[in-house]
Amino acid sequence: ASGCDFVVVANRLPVDRDTSSPDPQWRTSPGGLVTALQPVMQAQAGAWIGWAGTPDEDIDPFDIDGMHLVPLRLSADEIELYYEGFSNATLWPLFHDVIVPPEFHRAWWDAYIRVNRRFAEAAADVAARGATVWVHDYQLMLVPEMLRALRPDVSIGFFNHIPFPPWEIFAQLPWRTRILRGLLGADLIGFQRPTDASNFRRCVRMNFGWTTKANAIRVPEDPEVGTAEHVAEAKAFPISIDTSALDALSHDPAIVARAAQIRAELGDPEVLILGVDRLDYTKGIRHRLKAYGELLADGLIDREKVTLVQIATPSRERIDQYQHIRTEVELAVGRINGEFSDLGYQPLHYFHQSYPRDEMTALYLAADIMLVTSLRDGMNLVAKEYVACRPSGTGVLVLSEFTGAADQLTQAVMVNPHDISGLKAGIVRAVTMDEKEQRRRMRAMRRKLQGDDVQTWSRRFLQDLHALDSDKGISS
Ligand code: G6P
Repeated sequence: ASGCDFVVVANRLPVDRDTSSPDPQWRTSPGGLVTALQPVMQAQAGAWIGWAGTPDEDIDPFDIDGMHLVPLRLSADEIELYYEGFSNATLWPLFHDVIVPPEFHRAWWDAYIRVNRRFAEAAADVAARGATVWVHDYQLMLVPEMLRALRPDVSIGFFNHIPFPPWEIFAQLPWRTRILRGLLGADLIGFQRPTDASNFRRCVRMNFGWTTKANAIRVPEDPEVGTAEHVAEAKAFPISIDTSALDALSHDPAIVARAAQIRAELGDPEVLILGVDRLDYTKGIRHRLKAYGELLADGLIDREKVTLVQIATPSRERIDQYQHIRTEVELAVGRINGEFSDLGYQPLHYFHQSYPRDEMTALYLAADIMLVTSLRDGMNLVAKEYVACRPSGTGVLVLSEFTGAADQLTQAVMVNPHDISGLKAGIVRAVTMDEKEQRRRMRAMRRKLQGDDVQTWSRRFLQDLHALDSDKGISS
C-alpha cells in the first residue's frame, strides 16, 4: 500500500459498538475530536490508530465515514498495567495536581513502553512518505520519539489534552527524562493553556539544563534511540467544541420539546441546576455537593424552588481511586436527599449513567445554571457545550478557575472550588442573577465560541505544524 498522508494516533478509536443489532456494527462516537479531524481525514486519505476499548480482541482495519480505522489490540494485562496503571494511576493524578497520590510501579512503566512502541510501529506502518502524524494525549507520550526514530521523514505533532504539571511535581516521576524525550520527538507539542506549555518548557530546562528560545527547543541527537538533532516547538492551542453542530441541535424542535419535558418531569423547579462530569476525582463533585448541601441547610437557597441534577458518567471503574470517589459521591447524595427531601420534593437527582448527545443537549437547554467545579481540568468541554446550547441567551455558567475553559469563558461566575464559602456565594450569585446580566455574559461567551471552535483549533495546529515543516525544508 502507498500509505496514508494523515495519521491520527490516540489511545481510543473514535467509534462505539452498536450492540442493539445481533451483528454488532460500529458507529463513530459524537466526540469533538472526530468531528474536527474527520474532514481532514476524508480530504487526504487519513487513518486513525487506536484501541477499540475491549480486551484481547483482534479486529481487522476497517473503513467508516471516509476514515480508515486501525484497531490496536490490548491484552487484559496491558489494560491493567498500561491503561489503568501507568496512564491513569501514575500520569493522570501526577498531571492533575496530585489530587490523589500517583503510584509509581516499574512493571506499569515497562508495559507503557511496550504499548507505546506498538502504537509507534503501527503509525510507521500506515504513514505514507512525508505524511503528517498527529499523536494525542498522555497515554502515548513516548510515541513521538519512537516514531521519529522509525520514520524521520514524517512530520510529527503531539497534543496533550490534560494539564502539564510544574517541574516541582513532574520531577517526582522516576522516568521523567524518558517522558520528556518521548514528547520532544515531535516537531510541534501542543498544550491547552499557556501555563501548561511554559511548565513543559521549564521541565525541559530544569531536567536537561538546556535553554529554550521563545517556544523553540533545540533537541540534540540521541544515538541510542536513533534520532537526529531537530527543533521542537511547544505552545498552547486551547481545544474547543463543534459550536455550529451544537447550536443546530439546540434549535431542533424535538430536543427543545424534550427540554421542556425534562423540566416538567422534575416538577417544574424555579431554578434547575446541572452538573455533568465523568465520575473522576478531578471534577470536584464532592466540593460541589458540600456547597449545595450547606446552602440547603442554611436556607440560602430556597428548598422546593431549586433542584440539582448531577450526571456522573461511569469512568475507569476498575481503578481504586475511582471506586473510592464513587462511594464518597454517592454517600453525599444520599445524605442530601435523606435530609432535605419530602414526599413531593427531591433536591438532588443523581445519575451514574451516560447519555446520548441529544439528551445532553436537552439537559443543557433545560438548565438555568451549569456547575463546573473541577479541581484541575485541561480544558473542560462541558462548560463550552453548555454555552453553545443556550440560544435564548439566558443561563449562568459557574466555572472553576482551575479549568482551561476559564481562559476563554471569562464572563462565567468564577469560583475556587476548594473555597466552599466562595463556591456557595458563586451559586447564590448565579441563582439571583437578573436576566439582563445573564444575557450580557452569555452573549459574550457565545460570541467567543463562534470564532473559536474545534475546527479552528485543528486548523491552527496543523497549519503551525506544516509551517515548521517547510522551515525545516529551507534550513536543511
Ligand atoms: C480525558 C482524556 C482522554 C480520555 C477521556 C476519557 O478527556 O484526556 O484522553 O480518552 O478522558 O477517558 P478514558 O480513560 O475512558 O479514555
